Formats: sequence, structure tokens, C-alpha cells
Amino acid sequence: MLPPMGTEKRVNYWEYIRVDDLLSLQGGVEGDEASLGNDEVMFIVVHQVYELWFKLILRELGAARELFSGGPVAEQALSGAVHALRRVCTIIERCVDHFQIMETLSTRDYLSFRDKLMPASGFQSAQLRQIEILLGLEDKDRLSLGVEGDYMQALRAHDGTRSSAYDKVEGTRASGPSLRSVIAEWLYRTPIDGYGPDDEGAAGSLDRFIERYLGAVDAEIAGSLEVALSRSHTAEDQETLRQRYAKESAGQAAFLNPTGEVDDARTRRIRAAILFITTYRELPLLSWPRELLDAIVEFEQLFVIFRQRHARMVERVIGRRTGTGGSAGVDYLDATALKYRIFKDVWACRTCQIQIKAAPPLERPDFYGFVAEGS
Ligand code: HEM
Repeated sequence: MLPPMGTEKRVNYWEYIRVDDLLSLQGGVEGDEASLGNDEVMFIVVHQVYELWFKLILRELGAARELFSGGPVAEQALSGAVHALRRVCTIIERCVDHFQIMETLSTRDYLSFRDKLMPASGFQSAQLRQIEILLGLEDKDRLSLGVEGDYMQALRAHDGTRSSAYDKVEGTRASGPSLRSVIAEWLYRTPIDGYGPDDEGAAGSLDRFIERYLGAVDAEIAGSLEVALSRSHTAEDQETLRQRYAKESAGQAAFLNPTGEVDDARTRRIRAAILFITTYRELPLLSWPRELLDAIVEFEQLFVIFRQRHARMVERVIGRRTGTGGSAGVDYLDATALKYRIFKDVWACRTCQIQIKAAPPLERPDFYGFVAEGS
């Protein structure tokens, strides 16, 4: 029931935004902002702003995961997930720019208060770890910092007990499947040429789709090789090109007919689904799925750029010295940008993508409400 008119609580800007609380948090370890120089207050504020952006990113990724959890995904849910990912992209773009503010800190200025931080480090940012876990970065794929044992160890308090940061990350680890897993499950269920995974005839249809697709890939590769050979002069160059294109063809075949994955048949269907969605993206039923795959690539590209941008800022401010957390510093950060990739299959499908005019015709265009020209 609504409160009687005139008795509801009305707020001011400073109450709603909690401005006083917010502005009281920049006192550093001393708890006394007045005793700190501007460089250090800037250092603290910039980190706090990042933690706030991380908070929003976590909420959006969590919401996207929710939309994919539990059964068939309606079109509205897909558009909701795309919206969430696009917002995350915009936030990460700002995060990338934001390092510029930190770069107003010269090496000498930073060194004047760096000792106070030791051995604290961004390596202890619980929210970045939560984002990585929510996305689907697995423990086996993590780089070791070199000194702290694993990343969970780094989140313990100095006496070895569990900190609130540790508990937060542990909570995310226990919170259910990652965004990568739920999206993989959705891709697995996506009909390919009109057949869902459990439909009668699905296996044969999938085999035919992959075979015809690989045939088209090989025809494109053969065409590219022919053009390349016509331009190169030495026999050695020609042999290099032949080998390079042969390797590409074998790579595509191995990608679409995987062996040695945890579940080859499932991985095969998921990869084929990604290719199907991106190849036949004009079909109305595939327009939101295609937007989602594009948003995933955009998101992951920005996240990699964010890591690389952080590494370049770090190199500018502290050079290549050991980090406060004890890692190899810039080398460690560059390695994370290279290695911490989540949606590898979505990216890999970009390599096998072919021109639309070369794509195999649909076997069941009626499933997609598609009427061929002239019929
Ligand atoms: C002068 C400023 C900065 C320097 C010199 C610096 C340096 C470093 C170094 C060397 C590492 C590697 C771990 C270690 O050995 O400590 C690291 C990790 C990290 N830093 Fe920074 N950093 C700075 C500012 C920032 C800012 C503004 C953020 C805000 C997002 C940030 C977030 C992180 C995160 C999340 C990690 C962990 C990365 C990972 O393990 O993948 N850092 N930083």
C-alpha cells in the first residue's frame, strides 16, 4: 500500500548517491586523506573507479548467465543478453581509456609511495577474479604468479585466514556454470539446418552439413592458393605457400571433426552451430543468435585490449621490474592477455567462415520460413 501523500521519504541527490560516504573512502592506509599527496589520492580514486566498473560488469554478466540458464532461450532473452554484453563492452572501453589518468603518474612520483602498498597488488582484485570465473576461465588455464601459489592463495589474509575477498571469489566459484558453459549448451541445442540434437535424422544432417561446408572451405582455399601461386616467383616460395594452405585446410577439417576433446561429438555440434548461425545470418530466426555471437567477440576483444592496455601503462610507470605482488610484472600481464581467452571456438569459426555465395544451400529452408527466389 502506498504511504499517505506527503509522508513518503523524499531524498536529496547527496543522500541517494551517498556522496559523503563515497568521498570518505580515499584516506589510504592512514585513513587520513589530508596527509596524502595528490598522486596517491589519484592512485586510490582510479582503482576505486575500476572496482565500481567491475561491479557493474559482474552484474551484467551475471544477468546474461541467468538468461541462458534453465532450458530453451526465448528471443527476448537473447536480446536481453546482447544488451547486457553491449553495456559491458561500453564499460570496458571506458576502462581502457581510464589508464590514461594513471599515466599522469611519473615513475618517480609512484616510487615515492609504492613501498606502502607492498605486497598488495591488483592480483588481489576479487572482482576481476569473479569476472574471469563467471566468464569461464578455468583454473587449469591460469598462469602462476610465481610466488603466491595459486590465485586463491593470494586472496588470503596475511595470517593465512580466509579474507572477505577470498569468500567472494569462492562464492562465485560455487555459483553454478559459467557464461561460457551456458552459451555452449544453448549452441548445442540450436537447430542446424532445421534439426535439433535429439531430432530424428539430426546426426546424418550434421554430417552432411559439415562435409559440404568443408568441401566449400577447401574450394576457397584452393582458389586462394592458385592466386597466391600466380604471384610468387621462386619454387621455394611456392612450396611454402602450398604447405601453408594445406595446413589451413587440415586445420579446418580437424576443427570441425575434433578428436581428443572432453566430448568430441558435443564440441563438433557446437562448432557447427556457430558456423551455421554466422553463415546463414540473414535468416530471421538467426538474427539474435548472430548478434549474440558478434557481441561475444566484441566483448572478448575489448577485454584483451584492456589487459594489454594495463600492461602498457604498467611498463610506462614501472618499467619491467617485479610487481608489488611478486609477479614478473609486464611479462606476466602480457602473458595473461595472450592466454586468458574464453570463447575460443567462436573466434576460431572466423577462420573457417566462407563467402555466402560459396555456402552450401540449406537442405530445409522451409524450417526457417525461407522461400527461395522464383518459387
Ligand atoms: C601505477 C599503476 C599500476 C601499476 C604499476 C600496476 C602494476 C601491476 C602489476 C605489476 C601487476 C602484476 C601482479 C603483481 O606482480 O603485482 C598488476 C596486476 C593487476 N593490476 Fe595493476 N597496476 C597499476 C594500476 C592498476 C589499475 C588502475 C588497475 C585497475 C583495474 C589495476 C588492476 C590490476 C589487476 C586486476 C591485476 C591482476 C591481473 C591478473 O592477474 O590478470 N592495476 N598490476
